[in-house]
Amino acid sequence: MTTNPQVRVSALNSQYPVGQLGLPAGELKLSWQVSAPAGTTQLGYELRAAENGAFDEGYALIEHRGPESQWVEAPVMPSKSRESWHFQVRIETEIGWSEWSKPLVHEVGLTKGTDFIGVAIGDASKAAEPSTLLRTTFKLETMPVKARMYATAHGVFDIMLNGKKVGNSILAPGWTAYHERLLVETYDALPNLQLGENALGALLSDGWWRGKFGFQNLYNNYGEETAFLGQLELTFADGSTQIIATGPEWKTHESGVRLASIYDGTTIDYTKAPKAWCKPGFDDSGWVGATAKAFDKSVLEPANLPPVRVKLELPMGVTELDGRTLLNANQNISGWVRLEVEGKRGDKVTIRHAEVLEPNNVLHTAALRGAKATDEYILGEDGVFKFEPKHTFHGFQYAEVVTNAKLISATAIAITSDNADRSHFTSSHNQLNKLHSNVLWSLRDNFVSIPTDCPQRDERLGWTGDAQAFVYAATTLVNADAFFTSWLKDLAIEQQKVGFVPMVVPDLLTMQAKIVPSPFPVQGEAGWGDAAIVVPWSLYQTYGDAEILKQQLSSMRDWMSYLDTQRSGALIPPRMQLGDWLDPDAPNDKPWAAKVSGQFVANAYIVYVARLQAQVEALVGDEAHRAKYLALADEISAALWAELGEAAVTTPTGAAMSLIFDIAPSAEIQRVADGLAAMVRETGGRISTGFLGTPIILDALSQYGHIEEAYQMLLRTEMPSWLYPISVGASTIWERWNAIYPDGSINDGGLKDKAEGSGDGMISFNHYAYGAVIDWVYRNVAGLSSLEPGYAKVKVAPKLIDAIDRAKAHINTGFGKVEVTYIYNPTELSMQLEVPFGTVAVLDLPVSPTSVISINGNSAANGSELSHGRYEIKVANPHFIERKK
Ligand code: BGC
Repeated sequence: MTTNPQVRVSALNSQYPVGQLGLPAGELKLSWQVSAPAGTTQLGYELRAAENGAFDEGYALIEHRGPESQWVEAPVMPSKSRESWHFQVRIETEIGWSEWSKPLVHEVGLTKGTDFIGVAIGDASKAAEPSTLLRTTFKLETMPVKARMYATAHGVFDIMLNGKKVGNSILAPGWTAYHERLLVETYDALPNLQLGENALGALLSDGWWRGKFGFQNLYNNYGEETAFLGQLELTFADGSTQIIATGPEWKTHESGVRLASIYDGTTIDYTKAPKAWCKPGFDDSGWVGATAKAFDKSVLEPANLPPVRVKLELPMGVTELDGRTLLNANQNISGWVRLEVEGKRGDKVTIRHAEVLEPNNVLHTAALRGAKATDEYILGEDGVFKFEPKHTFHGFQYAEVVTNAKLISATAIAITSDNADRSHFTSSHNQLNKLHSNVLWSLRDNFVSIPTDCPQRDERLGWTGDAQAFVYAATTLVNADAFFTSWLKDLAIEQQKVGFVPMVVPDLLTMQAKIVPSPFPVQGEAGWGDAAIVVPWSLYQTYGDAEILKQQLSSMRDWMSYLDTQRSGALIPPRMQLGDWLDPDAPNDKPWAAKVSGQFVANAYIVYVARLQAQVEALVGDEAHRAKYLALADEISAALWAELGEAAVTTPTGAAMSLIFDIAPSAEIQRVADGLAAMVRETGGRISTGFLGTPIILDALSQYGHIEEAYQMLLRTEMPSWLYPISVGASTIWERWNAIYPDGSINDGGLKDKAEGSGDGMISFNHYAYGAVIDWVYRNVAGLSSLEPGYAKVKVAPKLIDAIDRAKAHINTGFGKVEVTYIYNPTELSMQLEVPFGTVAVLDLPVSPTSVISINGNSAANGSELSHGRYEIKVANPHFIERKK
């Protein structure tokens, strides 16, 4: 075997987040990226696996001939708790073999609840009372070589070991369908350990378990008691082990954290906080024994998604006003403010948060409804201190501090579920670049353990409709496969309980409706429940792993069956539907009353998902199901077109759904598309779609011959439009197109006291649904789209417009980075293209009848297929669009 240093495996990954400890056992798939000279291909590979990396003691090997490099079955499926397997790959090309790749380490967490030898512990506190401190000590005579901390809770926790936090996750263990699925996090505790006495402890707060949550503002949603379950496992050089597990011998005391509420914020009174409580030598004689708590260990699972972490720290602008200080992060974020203050014992610092300001620099807090979003600190000593809240987060750009202490500095801390960035887009069009940034920020701010609707008001729920509307953009922007795979597991669990896909996952609404009557019927909603099919399908399309379709297969089929039961004759009859939610022409207080009828939307969505499901069935090889769903789609689509089609296509959403969901008969398609384009022209590109129409409106135009109108809409700057909010300072995507009016006044959010419990309207400045458009921007402005699942084949088809003469974008696909950079003028388009190893790019360049194409100086034809490498592409006299105003 000859190796060639020019062939290199540059990355080896699995379906789990890079570097994460304590992963699930079972099914393991490997994918790799290669760097090798142009013209080479992978002829075959060898994959090997050795426990604990002991390759010299022998290993499991798979040899394979062929080009596959994505989602390949690992040679060993780790099966037991704590196993640590190392995997390596090497590949063969025409010019020789690569060396073995750097190893990928897959360390399994605790797979069974019974692996926890201790009992869960807590104290006698109730919801909204001070957070709980728990501590124990142990002695080390020699240092271990390995230390793993496994932990989970009813509530949320921070683990402290010798005065320092273990790991960097926030709001652990995250939010899942707790009664059926509770995640265990694993951390490397070695850096915190020391010889002699060690102190191990936890700060435990209400979190989602029993804190105030849901727009009904209820407490104790999952239980009345919080509890922490953990164990520290030490392995010594001689192979011996020691486990320090939670149990009643631990001690407990209330903390200085007097309140830790996700909605309301944190109050920390340092005069009451036991100092250095998690350090060795602390006198805990005044503490009481911890109480053993009931805890169902059978629902425990190793975490399979990245935790919430700090993403960025942003220094805040400080303006002194009369008796208060105004802080500005210059970016709407999820997170909190770190304050540095100088003061005296007993001084109080109060900080309130808001996304936008009212006139006179006053925080606009009405939009927060029942969420107080206020942090408070009471100094325990004289001096300079840095404060951060615990176990809360706020959606905000601005904050107001009132204190008699002196404020020294303020830093905004932005948190998010730590999904790796996947792409980037920039262009000569500044507002479009800002739109991209705003969409990415709305994603980060709303991916906090689960995909949420908004990060600021008393909601922050896993609305299924918002997730499915945005999922294609989300999967283009970040590596969200593990994140959504986890959420989809909960979706399936909740669906089993109620018989339909609930509107939010985890399904707090059904739980709460049993206690307080729900303001609207709790049922499966068109465009919301369809997340069961649209989300796994889009994960497969973007990342290329069909496993997610297998994981979700019964959930998908169950949703199809539910939809079938909703029909009467061919169609779902008229009933309350959320429909094209928040159509800008719907009355402010009736966001469901869109121009297109709810009945049309409900039936159009079945057609859409039935056709997707038929493709899923083809992939899993079930011909009978495939035929059944296709027949269902055809039946509904024919009846729908006959009964409601003509009325629907007079509305932009109805027309777009008729085209994109394959409802309009082929003879009618162009008429419908031309009608849609005419509506757009007549209104000067005015956006007039809601949550369900917006993600598809530009495709409905551009795929049917109306790219001019698509651009007219995308680049419009008057309200309502995608770019209008930028002109009034938006740094995230708004829930409503008219959240702030051109005169600066703020929309009151309609709904007052009508549909929602807390009664202060429904207006958020950070809802990602309308940001779905950014996926179209990647596919059309940059021109990068996936032709085969996972970008195995990439289409390069930028649509030039006079308003954008430069663009650069990349997507880090599983194969590696595909990147396009271009600049053009009417006589020449000059483009650089990078195609990753293992993929093919198909050129669909913007040509005019007089265009001449060259690739790396040689004349070439449009439609050329390019394998990996870097290309210099030129198009003389390119076709470009003159912008309609
Ligand atoms: C949420 C949404 C959600 C909608 C549906 C709102 O309160 O914020 O984004 O999809 O309700 O009813």
